[in-house]
Amino acid sequence: MLTPRDVTGILRLGGTILGTTNRGNPFAYPVTTSEGIHDYSDRCVEMFHKLGLGALIVIGGDGTLAIAHQFCERGIPVVGVPKTIDNDIVGTTNCFGFDTAVAFATDAIDRLHTTAEAHHRIMIAEVMGRYAGWIALYAGVAGGADAILIPEIPFDIALVAEDLRARDRWGAKFSIVVVAEGAHPAGGTTSLVQAARDGYVERLGGIGAQVSEALAGATGKETRSVVLGHLQRGGAPTSSDRVLATRFGGKAVELVQRGDFGTMVAFDPPDIVARRLEDVVGKTKTVPLDHDLLLTAKALGVTFGD
Ligand code: F6P
Repeated sequence: MLTPRDVTGILRLGGTILGTTNRGNPFAYPVTTSEGIHDYSDRCVEMFHKLGLGALIVIGGDGTLAIAHQFCERGIPVVGVPKTIDNDIVGTTNCFGFDTAVAFATDAIDRLHTTAEAHHRIMIAEVMGRYAGWIALYAGVAGGADAILIPEIPFDIALVAEDLRARDRWGAKFSIVVVAEGAHPAGGTTSLVQAARDGYVERLGGIGAQVSEALAGATGKETRSVVLGHLQRGGAPTSSDRVLATRFGGKAVELVQRGDFGTMVAFDPPDIVARRLEDVVGKTKTVPLDHDLLLTAKALGVTFGD
């Protein structure tokens, strides 16, 4: 039972007090016996009824919401809440967690400017986001990056290098490059630190270091790269994320009260609305190539390597 005592004071915290796993798909649970993957969904449904639960409010990213949808099809009354720093859930302009990650990444980029300017270097920040470039685009623009590389626009490193050399020529002796972990060169593949295995999805990473080496070679400038990694997922949520999470929570309770299940709460500014789970799961909301922020960044001279 959750009581007010359990939740008072947690507004300013990230993470979860309930416990979570990204390896716990009950429809394909990896076990280390000769029998391999198990389907524990029947047991979950049985436990749901045994506990006398009335509804399940499921908070998470696409993997979580897809599992929620499968349970919904098994008759469990589900309401989903989109929460991921990647901001890649279809049907909602924002997921909570995204703004906090962008705020952290922007602060990190601000700090990289110090060394970049002092030592006339190219400083590279690799940010998260999986196959979507939202964090890179928003933090890159907010942090004044000179190059932003995102998965949606496969890059040509020679074009990036040329634009950074041009900065040198007009007197800017430093450059800041923001690279999404899912960014990849035209004709190349996504850089992985670990392939998918045993119920784990593939882990992205390493493209920042590759871009750093390539730019050092192509520009002759000193380059350094930093991976912001899980720092983007920690710490206190921003006020915007707290407000969004609170609004999502309010809407989720309203949907439960109305018996409107198989839904996900979503932000459709200025409103919080409900979407059908089947319309949003299994898809990825990437940055549209005609997104106004992308076009404005290009107009301001930011290179995307295309
Ligand atoms: O989906 C959120 C996310 O933080 C991604 O941006 C990142 O690729 C991934 O999770 C990292 O997962 P893990 O914590 O399992 O390494």
